[in-house]
Parts: sequence; C-alpha cells; structure tokens
Amino acid sequence: MQPFDLVIRGGKLVTPAGIVAADLGVRAGKIAAIGALHAEPAASVLEAEGLHVLPGVIDSQVHFREPGLEHKEDLATGSDAAVLGGVTTVFEMPNTNPNTISAAALADKLDRAAGRMRCDHAFYVGATAENIEALPELERLAGSAGIKIFMGSSTGSLLVEDDASLERVLRAGFRRVAVHAEDEPRLRERKALAEASGDPVSHPHWRDVEAAVRAVRRLLNGARTCGRRVHVLHITSAEEMELLAEARDVATVEVTPHHLTMHAPDCYERLGTRAQMNPPVRDARHQAALWKAIQEGVVDVLGSDHAPHTLEEKNKPYPSSPSGMTGVQTLLPVMLDHVAKGRLSLERLVDLTGHGPQRIFQLVGKGRIMRGYDADLVLVDLQARWRINTSWLASRAGWSPYEDMEITGRPVSTLLRGAVVAQDGELIGKPVGRPVRFMETLAA
Ligand code: DOR
Repeated sequence: MQPFDLVIRGGKLVTPAGIVAADLGVRAGKIAAIGALHAEPAASVLEAEGLHVLPGVIDSQVHFREPGLEHKEDLATGSDAAVLGGVTTVFEMPNTNPNTISAAALADKLDRAAGRMRCDHAFYVGATAENIEALPELERLAGSAGIKIFMGSSTGSLLVEDDASLERVLRAGFRRVAVHAEDEPRLRERKALAEASGDPVSHPHWRDVEAAVRAVRRLLNGARTCGRRVHVLHITSAEEMELLAEARDVATVEVTPHHLTMHAPDCYERLGTRAQMNPPVRDARHQAALWKAIQEGVVDVLGSDHAPHTLEEKNKPYPSSPSGMTGVQTLLPVMLDHVAKGRLSLERLVDLTGHGPQRIFQLVGKGRIMRGYDADLVLVDLQARWRINTSWLASRAGWSPYEDMEITGRPVSTLLRGAVVAQDGELIGKPVGRPVRFMETLAA
C-alpha cells in the first residue's frame, strides 16, 4: 500500500460514530484511514497524545469586509483569524462595498480570495429588489454559498423589507436561503427609543423580541407558501425558538457563541457599544432558552457572525456606533469552555460546527471525520487553561469582547486538507484556501 502523507497518532477522534481512540491517515488531502496505523509507513507524523481531533469548524456566517471596508478586515486577515481559531471553512456575507449582488461581484471576491485566504470558503449573494430575476442563476455559481436576505437593516444597505418582495425572492431559486430576521417597520418605529436613551443598554429594547418574532413568523409563512427552505441566522429569543421548533419542515436554525455567552444588561454595562450587535444580546431568560434549544436539538449550527468594526468606530456615541463584534477566532475556544463547564457535550459541539453545517448546506467532503472526507481538522487540548488576549487575535479590528476571559480548552493545530495551517498560535505556510463545493450545485 502507498504510504500515508500524514498520520495523526494517538488522539481521540470525534467521529459521527462517537469518540474513538484511533490514528488517522491522510492521503492527497483526504482522510484515507481511521484505525491502528502506528506500523504503517507515513511521510510525516503528528503526535496527538492527550488531544482530541475534531473536524475543522465550518463557520457559515462571517463578514470579512473586502472589498471596500478593508480598514476593518480583509479576506486575508479574516482567514488568518479563522485558522488560528480552528475554523477551516467560512461562508462570507455580501454586505461589502460594493455589495455581492451580481456574478461579477462574486467572481471578484473569488479572485481576491485565491492565494490570500488560509481557509476554504464560499460567498453569499445578497438579495435586493433589483436582482431577484438573476437569483436562480447567482445561487448556482461555483463559490456561491447561496442567497442571503436581510429583512431588517443592519450594517450596509441590503434590505428585503416587505412580504411581496420576500415571497418573490423565496420563489427565485431552490437552495436554502440564509435570513437575518428582524422586522424593518418595527425597527424604524422604535429607533427613537435608542436615540433618546443614547445608551447601548437600550439596544435590546429598540430591536426587541417582537421585532424578531414578527420577522420569523412572516418568514416561516413565506417559506411554506413558496415551498422554500430557509436558514434563520442568529436566533436570540425564547419566543423565536418556540416558533422554530414547530418549523422543522422548512427552517434550520443558527445561534452564535455571543448570544450563548453574554447576557443583558451585564454585557452592556461591562462592554458598552462593544456588545452591540444585531440582533441584540438579550437577558438571561433568553440565553437559557437558547441553551435549551441546543439541548433539545432545535439548533442546527453555530455561526460566529464575525462582524469586525474598528474600536474608533465602536466608540462613537450609541446608536451611531456600528453593530457587530469579532468572533471567528474565538468561536471554538469559547465553546470549548462551555464544554468544560458541562453546558454541552463535545459531540454536540462537533454536531453544531461540523456535521450540522455539512448536512444543511450539503457541503461536499467537509465537516466530518469519515474516510473520503477532506482532512480539515483541529486538534484541541480540552484541559489547557489560558486567557484570550489581543496579541493572539489576528483580526484587523484588533479586539474581542472576550479579552481577558479565562478559557478551558485550546485549539493546538489546525489542518486544511492535510496540511498544518496553524500551530500553537502561529500561522504556518502559504494561504491555500479554495472554494468549497455543494452537492446541490455540483454541475456549477
Ligand atoms: O451586528 C451585526 N453586524 N449584525 C449584522 O447583521 C451585520 C453585521 C455587520 O456587518 O456589521
């Protein structure tokens, strides 16, 4: 038999069949064997004694800001942050400048990514009133993660506000559509509240639960009427989870580590506008409901919603301060800490960061430790105790809401298609990230 390119020896593999103590052999970038491989010839060996081997994290919601907003982040710095944090695939959002709303804009992002991104990637195409006719074609293009709808306005100008436009978008195409569900008329109606207060603690009152619930209800109606699958991003409230638990026919669900880790009013008192994001971090009752939804299986994936802004921008007086926090690099460490605290099992975490995104987006060869899948892996030390500090962060924005937080559990090595791309907090090698493929559009 041909020697392996790499054998990862002595680790505990988190596979769809459970956690198994086994070696993992890589050939041509793919997982070629799982078992006792210590006697097999291998070009190189990575010792994983005492470590767990997880599928590389698939983060299906990041904003990397290129083109147009590179002072906050770019595709290179965003992907550096990703791999340092154990993320090997990202789906990047369309609210750049220009917005990603055409074939040319998508091709431009793919060009910019080549040779500069360290992780594999796909790019969402934003829906607007103007590009509805083109959406069926745009969602099929190679490198397209599908369509993104903003029902409520957030950073940027992308917006599909009314039900008639929403239904037109939902009828245009077949892939699962990712949706930011906040009700724009309600947000407009209540903005004065935030302006009058001038304090970020009012963010969850301006963008209240009712704004989220109205949008989710409208979206689910639309999805059923049009027979279109939707993926509802960053769910924040108990009431939305009640609706979504009854909508397994049409909807899948994302939560973010931010909403699972912080709560109001504490986060606004500690972090001010740094804790400001859309939809907002809410109080402890809602946070508990998000954890319950994770336990009950209502949540399909975790996404970081990495949304970098500079500190100078964040320091503007609320509400002119922009919404969004960094998160791609801290997604896995923060969640490993929740594992250490007993809030979810390691297997459920891998379900949310690997198996879940693979299943709902029908990714080819990603997100699972199985023979024939890409050797996108992250080796983690579940016992390591450390503190998140700014010197570890690669985002150009240069800050994290978790600075100084003590974490139990640390990503040690990140591998992309069998090559080590980050090791002990250092980036390794040249950027070799590629566009990912989706089973539904393989002909693309
Ligand atoms: O807080 C947010 N920031 N929510 C979004 O939906 C957009 C994001 C950004 O791009 O800054």
